[in-house]
Amino acid sequence: MEAPSTLPTMVKDGHDEANERERDTREMRRAVDVAATVRTSTAPNPWVGCVILTTDGRRFEGATHPPGGPHAEAEALAAVRAAGADPAGSTAYVTLEPCSHLGRTPPCADALVDAKVGRVVVAVEDPDWKVAGQGLSRLRQAGIAVTTGVEAEAVTEQLLPYLTHRRTGRPFVVLKMAATLDGGTAAPDGDSRWITGPQARADVHRLRAESGAVLVGAGTVRADDPSLTVRDAPGPDPLRVVLGTAPPDAKVHPCLGVQGDLGAVLDQLGDRGILQLLVEGGATVAASFHHRGLVDRYVLYLAPAFFGGRDALGLFNGRGAATMADVWRGRFLAATTLGDDLRVDVAPSTSTPSTPSPGRTAPAGRGEESN
Ligand SMILES: NC(=O)c1ccc[n+]([C@@H]2O[C@H](COP(=O)([O-])OP(=O)(O)OC[C@H]3O[C@@H](n4cnc5c(N)ncnc54)[C@H](OP(=O)(O)O)[C@@H]3O)[C@@H](O)[C@H]2O)c1
Repeated sequence: MEAPSTLPTMVKDGHDEANERERDTREMRRAVDVAATVRTSTAPNPWVGCVILTTDGRRFEGATHPPGGPHAEAEALAAVRAAGADPAGSTAYVTLEPCSHLGRTPPCADALVDAKVGRVVVAVEDPDWKVAGQGLSRLRQAGIAVTTGVEAEAVTEQLLPYLTHRRTGRPFVVLKMAATLDGGTAAPDGDSRWITGPQARADVHRLRAESGAVLVGAGTVRADDPSLTVRDAPGPDPLRVVLGTAPPDAKVHPCLGVQGDLGAVLDQLGDRGILQLLVEGGATVAASFHHRGLVDRYVLYLAPAFFGGRDALGLFNGRGAATMADVWRGRFLAATTLGDDLRVDVAPSTSTPSTPSPGRTAPAGRGEESN
């Protein structure tokens, strides 16, 4: 697609570095926005955006297609050619390092070299062992100027599920719970519908659509009989996973039943190419993931409500910290108002993603491509 551009003529003499940095930031932010449009359609491949500025100041854009289709760079180059423009000497802004290997599509680094692109700006390197710097090397060997690290923080946040999966072999784990302000997640009679309002619940459906798999405990299946599909947002249904055994007539079927060590469960899901796992409770399952340090992101939907006593089910079942020194602490990332409710995103204090089990390498999941 060609986008209208109000850009000045490209600076080529290198004297105006401040302008170049400003333009790099602006165009990479645009590439991030383009990547966001395909967030739910590319998995198990990464959602990548590309902007190409041709030497006559025109801007073209591309985003990764669903698996088997063109990657962002190929899509943007195709847009350049479709408009009769010349990619030679252009600058390409790509959120993730261009791939260097032959998958279901040809290597993007080669496509940029063949198009005689003059400069490539990349936000983050691809940790997938099939790429891991080789895409950048291929470009540099061909004499293309390469700049890395532009808007790296924003792109790292956008691609965290993919980056975590390629580094650890496991999905990025998001624990989502809805609670009253005094931390209640279900009434003493087991009912939890609904703690939050329709806007918060639609947001949960968006989270589901972004997740390759959604997991609940058998206790939640018995209490709520959830279907765990995506209904109030656009996007595909995730793989449904039940920890324990779901009754045969439960709405969650067909689902994957899993048991035992949670690290092994994450390894198993990573091997299936699941980049993000959404854990939706209940309190026993939440405690199990939390106490093992397996949660990469906590998403809490808080209603302006109180159970007002001690007998509601809390966020976590079982025993918690016994002393103040043992209290778990994280970082607030965001607080968003959704109708009458509040969504609070919290990350563990250390940004280290969940680590693979001992002796396990961190390969790419089978059958996926990287960018
Ligand atoms: N507010 C919210 O966001 C929210 C979300 C979900 C649920 N809920 C509410 O929470 C309640 C259910 O929570 P719950 O704590 O009773 O049940 P739960 O956490 O949903 O499920 C616990 C069950 O999971 C199975 N399990 C198997 N391996 C496990 C492991 N490694 N760790 C933990 N569990 C494992 C066990 O089932 P077996 O006994 O079959 O072995 C265990 O009893 C319901 O009232 C529901 O409405 C609220």
